[in-house]
Amino acid sequence: MGFLSATLLSFFTAHLLAFQSTRDMLNKPYRTLKNTQFWYFNLKLTENYPMKMLYKLSLAGLFALNMGNALASESLVDKAIEYRKGAFAVMAWNFGTLAAMVKGEQAFDAQAFAEKAGRVALIANLPIVEGFEVEGSDKGKTEAKPEIWKDFDKFKSGLGKLQEEADKLAEVAKTAKTVDEVKDQFAATGKVCKGCHEEFKED
Ligand code: HEC
Repeated sequence: MGFLSATLLSFFTAHLLAFQSTRDMLNKPYRTLKNTQFWYFNLKLTENYPMKMLYKLSLAGLFALNMGNALASESLVDKAIEYRKGAFAVMAWNFGTLAAMVKGEQAFDAQAFAEKAGRVALIANLPIVEGFEVEGSDKGKTEAKPEIWKDFDKFKSGLGKLQEEADKLAEVAKTAKTVDEVKDQFAATGKVCKGCHEEFKED
């Protein structure tokens, strides 16, 4: 919608530029008006040649500018949303295995647990926040709630808390031999996910 209205606006601006003034346009006798009104489709040189060029250039230029802006900003926002979702998806993929082992749905494998916990920590330590810093990324294919941008510091501290707990989980997992040794820190990490989602993510 923004793109459409900007194009329309530049079309009318260019139109006004093309005629010295609207009054000038209205004062022209019908025959002249008929010749000049659509002269931008007429390639013959006329007395209005400079105006014709100005019109064409401003129209083409503004159109290209709008198009460029619309495409560039759209894709940056899309990329930011994809980036942060992707980071969470990779994290959740690994976290899911940890959950299955803690719940006993999957046999506890100390080495696999340590490996996956290490990956959760690795992703948690990425600057996921950058995906939320791109202007306009509060709208689009996202489940991020507007509350994030109302209290960005609080949201950021949630990501910081996630790093802390995920680091601790990875650390504990390194030496753990049994599920009992990791389950408390697993729960502490899961609590951070849940807490943030409740406040900042749509279901
Ligand atoms: C500080 C806040 C915060 C923390 C902590 C957090 N998340 Fe999220 N998570 C979000 C937000 C916000 C979104 C929505 C992103 C979007 O749709 O743009 C999200 C999205 C997701 C998604 C959906 C990804 C997709 O493909 O759409 C998954 C899965 C997820 N988080 C898992 C986790 C797990 C697992 C943890 C903990 C290990 C976690 N999150 C911790 C805020 C957080």
